[in-house]
Amino acid sequence: MSSKTSTITVDGKSVELPVKEGTIGPSVIDISKLYGQTGMFTYDPGFTSTAATESKITYIDGDKGILLYRGYPIDQLAEHGDFLETCYLLLYGELPTAAQKADFDYRVTRHTMVHDQMNRFFTGFRRDAHPMAIMVACVGALSAFYHDSTDISDPHQRMIASMRMIAKMPTLAAMAYKYSIGQPFVYPQNDLDYTSNFLRMCFAVPAEEYKVNPVLSRALDRIFILHADHEQNASTSTVRLAGSSGANPFACIAAGIACLWGPAHGGANEAALKMLEEIGTPDRIPMYIAKAKDKNDPFRLMGFGHRVYKNYDPRARIMQKTTHEVLNELGIKDDPLLDVAIELEQIALKDEYFVEKKLYPNIDFYSGITLKAMGFPTSMFTVLFALARTVGWIAQWSEMIEDPSQRIGRPRQLYTGAPHRDYVTLAQRG
Ligand code: CMC
Repeated sequence: MSSKTSTITVDGKSVELPVKEGTIGPSVIDISKLYGQTGMFTYDPGFTSTAATESKITYIDGDKGILLYRGYPIDQLAEHGDFLETCYLLLYGELPTAAQKADFDYRVTRHTMVHDQMNRFFTGFRRDAHPMAIMVACVGALSAFYHDSTDISDPHQRMIASMRMIAKMPTLAAMAYKYSIGQPFVYPQNDLDYTSNFLRMCFAVPAEEYKVNPVLSRALDRIFILHADHEQNASTSTVRLAGSSGANPFACIAAGIACLWGPAHGGANEAALKMLEEIGTPDRIPMYIAKAKDKNDPFRLMGFGHRVYKNYDPRARIMQKTTHEVLNELGIKDDPLLDVAIELEQIALKDEYFVEKKLYPNIDFYSGITLKAMGFPTSMFTVLFALARTVGWIAQWSEMIEDPSQRIGRPRQLYTGAPHRDYVTLAQRG
């Protein structure tokens, strides 16, 4: 703990507060005793200046456009590693040795099947149900399968629950997709790597041999790495808050999926692609830029802007490169959506409004084009985000459970409703 302090004056009374320093990034003023000393709370809607927790997992420098998982830059992990290595890193804090990696891959692979009873859950949904709605329900339902066997105070059981979730998310995500298009579920094939297995479960049909395209599998694996964690974002904070009461971890992850679905968060990739389709041709871009700048118009440029990044999102750079690789592999020479995206980015990056507000493309700007080219419908985009983010949610949840200072999350409020008043009987009300 640093010896630095910060002094604030409340109603003429000076209060000295401890300052905590991290390894990198801004220090924090520890206000946990502020209420006891001043009778006042702090007020910070949207947590723009509030660190809700201490964490060793992910670091973002939004001004410089840096993202580190356990200290390693995202571009290095995406270029040299694979998704399961990133999962190991996020969960255990270190990159695995070759033997640890082989063991981890084996253990995840052995949990890929879901209980056969899960199939019945799917038939309860209408065919046109959004796959995110199905995911919220089915991952929540996993808690019914592993409730009594999950003692969250036991590190071993926590790790088994983590493995189960990482392993079963692709299976459930693929089932949600298959159900929506009326095709039979494809069981996992454990001699395939994690991402190839997922592609096969999504796109294979019993009537034909399915060959995984290694370029597409590698690209999707990289997309998973880019989405694996992002420190205390809305869905991760949701998982932590839900978990702080000691709730079942599968139910906590279901809460995270629900939060991720919103268009301001994980739903932005779907919204960004729909926006590009709506714009349609480059000549219509100025009209949409004007709409985005108009205070009276709720339209926002989807895939642009970020609460933390006030520079180019480092994930967006890798994503853009991946988009080109995928389109090349598929022989898509001219994708009108890509043309619109590139031109829109160029125009927005030069526009005073976007420059002044530091609005840059985020990861969602290019991911939709890539996933669409791979054959995923837009409704599946956020599901893929949830699949990849599951490891981040679990790593953050585990870190919270292991923290000896952990208490139930309980924000305070500034009450602006009616003051005390006495009940008036129905007959006496005017
Ligand atoms: N288009 C037009 N104006 C924008 C945009 C945008 N995409 N994003 C922010 N602004 C403006 C906003 O109107 C505000 O202007 P003013 O100061 O004049 O009121 C200013 O920029 C600051 O915006 P904010 O809404 O206060 O910023 P925030 O940190 O609360 O919101 C955000 C961040 C990501 C929700 C927002 O930028 C946004 O809605 N972007 C579009 C949705 C999107 O792409 N989301 C994906 C985020 S990355 C994936 C993930 O991590 O989930």
